[in-house]
Amino acid sequence: MLKTHNCGELRACDAGSTVTLAGWVHRRRDHGGLMFFDLRDRSGIVQVVCDGSSPPEVREAASTLRPEYVVQVKGRVLRRPEGLENPDLPTGEVEVAAAELTVLNPSRTPVFYINEDSEIDEALRLRYRYLDLRRPRLQRNLILRHRTVKFIRDFLSERGFVEIETPMLIRSTPEGARDYVVPSRLHPGCFYALPQSPQQLKQLLMVAGFERYFQIARCMRDEDQRADRQPEFTQLDLEMSFVDREDVLELVESLFTALVPTVSDRRILQVPFPRLSYQEAIARYGSDKPDLRFGLELVDLTPLAAESSFQIFRQAVAAGGAVKGMRLPGCAGYSRKQIQELTDLAVKNGAKGLVWIARTADEVRSPLSRAVGEGEMQALVQALALEPGDLGLLVADDARVASLVLGALRSELGPRLTALDDRVLAFAWVLDFPLLEWNAEEGRWQAVHHPFTAPLDEDLPYLETDPGRVRAKAYDIVANGYEVGGGSIRIHRREVQERMFRVLGLGDEEARAQFGHLLEAFEFGAPPHGGIAPGIDRLVMLLAGEPNIREVIAFPKTQRAADLMLGAPAPISERQLEELGLLVRVEKRANPA
Ligand code: AMO
Repeated sequence: MLKTHNCGELRACDAGSTVTLAGWVHRRRDHGGLMFFDLRDRSGIVQVVCDGSSPPEVREAASTLRPEYVVQVKGRVLRRPEGLENPDLPTGEVEVAAAELTVLNPSRTPVFYINEDSEIDEALRLRYRYLDLRRPRLQRNLILRHRTVKFIRDFLSERGFVEIETPMLIRSTPEGARDYVVPSRLHPGCFYALPQSPQQLKQLLMVAGFERYFQIARCMRDEDQRADRQPEFTQLDLEMSFVDREDVLELVESLFTALVPTVSDRRILQVPFPRLSYQEAIARYGSDKPDLRFGLELVDLTPLAAESSFQIFRQAVAAGGAVKGMRLPGCAGYSRKQIQELTDLAVKNGAKGLVWIARTADEVRSPLSRAVGEGEMQALVQALALEPGDLGLLVADDARVASLVLGALRSELGPRLTALDDRVLAFAWVLDFPLLEWNAEEGRWQAVHHPFTAPLDEDLPYLETDPGRVRAKAYDIVANGYEVGGGSIRIHRREVQERMFRVLGLGDEEARAQFGHLLEAFEFGAPPHGGIAPGIDRLVMLLAGEPNIREVIAFPKTQRAADLMLGAPAPISERQLEELGLLVRVEKRANPA
């Protein structure tokens, strides 16, 4: 090793010993005859001093140092003179008197400060990611990520799980996104798909008798990017045989409950994790990934609204819809502009309008008062539990739309109106999702999770006759308004899987062509099985308290799925195209950034 010690580890008790350090020049201060520089390595920072007593060649070399030069220093650890300690630095009681100094490699002036926590344009950060990664925030996040994955590996290994790798070049597994595809040279005109998840393969490992499998699995999905999405991401993918839902929930809950306090200073709001049915989550929070760090629950005003003298309410209910409301404590003084902003947000989320009721100390104000009498207004105020100072928001629509609109407002306003403890992770389970949803655009049913999810036994008879009412043995684990993971008990019998494919509009022949391997495997003694896949990136993002998944990924892609450092995606040579039997039809290439 070019060093005997790590910079950040030196303490007062090391005073007197001679050490060799190597790292980056973090900051340099020159006071004429007296020169200091902070030397940084992954462990932290220590101050190095060169003064009149240092050898001339050391002083000479020190005078050439610039930020980010890579140097090796040999010297004695000294206690800093009294009064000159730096209590902000773990090594602040000591400094190293340089006796030898070697510049291992100079550095260009960095394109942004490594030694300051300043805001930097993200495109620049991504272009020079290796410099960005030198900064404490990303160092911390990636080390947290390592610790998280290590904990998971140890935890599951102790419980009899086997880590097994599955291939990256596969045939498409539908998870609801577009596939990334890879052309085959040996089979011109044919393509591999990169896995959206190892879903079918892990099920086949259950057929193979492994009983307990996990993998830290890379997944690729070509879908619209969001703050919590990347085209390439990582799942803790796991699957178990001879289990029911309870076993999977119990395992994941004990994993997270043990993991969170071990790797972070976060705490889990409530153990056991609260459980909500999908219906309940939508009805109470207007979301299938409710943020339970705050209340702001939705209220069903439909029974009242059925008899309302406000026509829009009455009509909505008569048409089979609902009127739902939400109480915003202390918001009665919202200005017209603020209310307009809320209305715009509601409309953006599909509402036709937003009605408000403000209760102040001595009056109730609302555009509704033109349409409804005092008695009805009082009833609404009561149903919404408005106290003086509160604002009520109401939406009339199809029940689901009304809930989702208020849910969107709730997610926006909750963090604004509540003093959130940013250490809290409010985990919860959402259960009993519908198995299928109607895709109006394509005029067909599609799987809410994926086509391998088992229906609840009692709902199976309705699979063909009333697909919309069939609930799935599916579950999501959510935290702070994010979906952290999803899973299910799977179909393990061929005939049920075939029925499912048929309901999804897949002809028997097509099903056999696409999923023949799975259907066939189910004929060879497939055990009952189920599993789940928490997203590692999302989990670490929550553990790190980061607002964006990119902050916990070493080399992430932009909103437009580009790698600004590598310059990917990029065209390939004519020769490569020819070898692959490909012709490119695009005339003008978009700039990938
Ligand atoms: P699902 O599609 O719900 O389930 O994905 C599981 C979890 O993976 C994470 N995730 C993502 N993270 C970052 N970027 C993305 N684009 C992205 N997409 C998904 C989320 C999500 O909850 N095979 C099933 C799992 C199973 O049934 O066992 C699956 O992939 O955290």
